[in-house]
Amino acid sequence: MLITSALPYANGPIHLGHLVEYIQTDIWARFQRARGHEAIYVCADDAHGTPIMLKARAEGIEPEELITRVRKEHEADFAGFLVEFNHYHSTHSEENRYCATRIYEGLRAAGHIAVRTIQQAYDPEAGMFLPDRFIKGTCPKCGAADQYGDSCEACGATYSPTDLIDPVSAISGARPVARDSEHYFFRLADFEAFLRDWTGSGRLQSAIRNKLNEWFEAGLADWDISRDAPYFGFEIPDAPGKFFYVWLDAPIGYMASFKAYAEANGLDFDAWWGSGAEPEMYHFIGKDIAYFHTLFWPAMLQGAGFRTPTAVFCHGFLTVNGQKMSKSRGTFIRARDFLDHLNPEALRYYFAAKLGSGVDDIDLSLDDFVQRVNADLVGKVVNIASRCAGFLTKRFDGKLADTLPRPDMHAHFVAAGDAIAAAYENREYSLAMRQIMALADQANQYIDEARPWVLAKDPERSGEVQAICTQGLDLFRILIVYLAPVLPRLAGHAAAFLNQEDISWDGRLQPLTGGRINAYVPLMTRVEPASVEALIEASRQDLEPTTPSPTESNAGMPAMDPIAETIDYETFSRIDLRVARIAAAEYVEGADKLLRLTLDLGGEQRQVFAGIRSAYAPEDLAGRLTVMVANLAPRKMRFGVSEGMVLAAGPGGQDLFILTPDEGAQPGMRIK
Ligand code: 2FM
Ligand code: ZN
Repeated sequence: MLITSALPYANGPIHLGHLVEYIQTDIWARFQRARGHEAIYVCADDAHGTPIMLKARAEGIEPEELITRVRKEHEADFAGFLVEFNHYHSTHSEENRYCATRIYEGLRAAGHIAVRTIQQAYDPEAGMFLPDRFIKGTCPKCGAADQYGDSCEACGATYSPTDLIDPVSAISGARPVARDSEHYFFRLADFEAFLRDWTGSGRLQSAIRNKLNEWFEAGLADWDISRDAPYFGFEIPDAPGKFFYVWLDAPIGYMASFKAYAEANGLDFDAWWGSGAEPEMYHFIGKDIAYFHTLFWPAMLQGAGFRTPTAVFCHGFLTVNGQKMSKSRGTFIRARDFLDHLNPEALRYYFAAKLGSGVDDIDLSLDDFVQRVNADLVGKVVNIASRCAGFLTKRFDGKLADTLPRPDMHAHFVAAGDAIAAAYENREYSLAMRQIMALADQANQYIDEARPWVLAKDPERSGEVQAICTQGLDLFRILIVYLAPVLPRLAGHAAAFLNQEDISWDGRLQPLTGGRINAYVPLMTRVEPASVEALIEASRQDLEPTTPSPTESNAGMPAMDPIAETIDYETFSRIDLRVARIAAAEYVEGADKLLRLTLDLGGEQRQVFAGIRSAYAPEDLAGRLTVMVANLAPRKMRFGVSEGMVLAAGPGGQDLFILTPDEGAQPGMRIK
């Protein structure tokens, strides 16, 4: 099977948010190999696009120099976290140019590429078209200043850059002008029947499938796959001055990375990528890029005559201490800083203990992290080995007993492997970790009850001591087999200590008897809270001034609500929703989207700017009851302070409907 993780952009460091995915994938790849499968895990740097071009420009270097440097850093970070790719490549490579060209030409020959002229924002000073993210201005919905051209961070609205109030180029500060340009489009709708079938056949998680149904309902639009020069990427064959959009050749990077690996290792590329190829192919990605991987990517492959993925596995985002990672809180933690302060396997274990097969976000609570790693790995697992090793080394010269006193326990631990394997296979790592720790508890309990330290005082019973400690180490060895996909380094050290080369899944069947162990060296030390504090401090110091170098946005995707499953009651209950009477409504000079509302909460009055002018005139509103969020932090806008928000439903424009409570509701009533 071929396994991939999403390709990180070559313009920034790997941080803990990225690592959720690489660790999740690496565990799965290692598990598959331990089970005897040929599992090839490839990845690459995602090296093209405007942000990378501009970042290199800002540093005064060529993009090639930037991506070479960043690739080295990425590879070192991955190695530090024991993420073991079979091959790591770059999308800026000959293999990728070859594969991208082949796919594009295949699609074009089959009639799936359309060409037409579109109008776009152009920066006359910088001499280039501007991606949405490089246009800033005032949000048309809520009036917040300094928002990106595609969405507002203050109110979450998505819009097109032409809707922005007072737009400016983030590159030169000039006011963008509209300019025509010929663009190339991939006709996604040609693949609707194929995609409905492909996405409905057990390849996707249910939350993603539901999202896809919404996307199908919304209609599959043509995808703009070209960008005008200047652009860092591959020029489109036969279209001088036009380049493949970074998101076209990014997933093709999976193919290119595999191609480079195959060439170095004598594998037949077509046997893996040809239409109907037999090996399985799995992509691990974040839920934010599902559209690319479940629609564009399979359609491109299908249209150009290649095999399509077996499954796409999406995960959620990482929060730290319950909040979005934040530079000022020191919770935007870079991989390198973590490695400078803490043991990477502690993080691998913690993520494993948190990860399930769904798309929920996972939280790294730093206190819980310290407590969990110390309790489970140091207190339970490694403890078994350290309790048994001393007796065997000191009294028996490291020699193990020839038989186990409790073969039933050995059998029980072996049998538990089936359920643990199923959990790994289904990416239910947290379940697997719970099952393994339950076994570790049983092993410790066995030693507690057998009390070798008491028996050791009686020379007559030394044979029993040897047998008990052998049993303990046998159980420990089985646990190590189960943990090896998560803790490969610890497993390697444990195998060396036990003189056991084979820590494959089946290697656990053979009881650990008769041989000799080596001197015990501590396999893992406690995570010190002071190290975590030092890490947070270092992460705060990394805080760099933000240059206008936003990352590539997901252009080409429809405006998308987050794929979230649930919020807990506590989160919901913190929103103070109130019935409000619209005491007054008026136009706002200079804002063609906003109305100024004076809301009466039964005594208290609030001023709220609402982006509902497209659907309501002031006279429609005055005197009406509606629903407002009363505890939204006040926001300073160009026109004054907005002290809350009214709720409305609908796609926008004239189709916008404010909420009205049932008769009898009074201003100020809390909604519960
Ligand atoms: O979202 C991102 O970070 C992209 N660089 C992921 C690309 S994944 C694949 F398509 F290459
Ligand atoms: Zn806004």
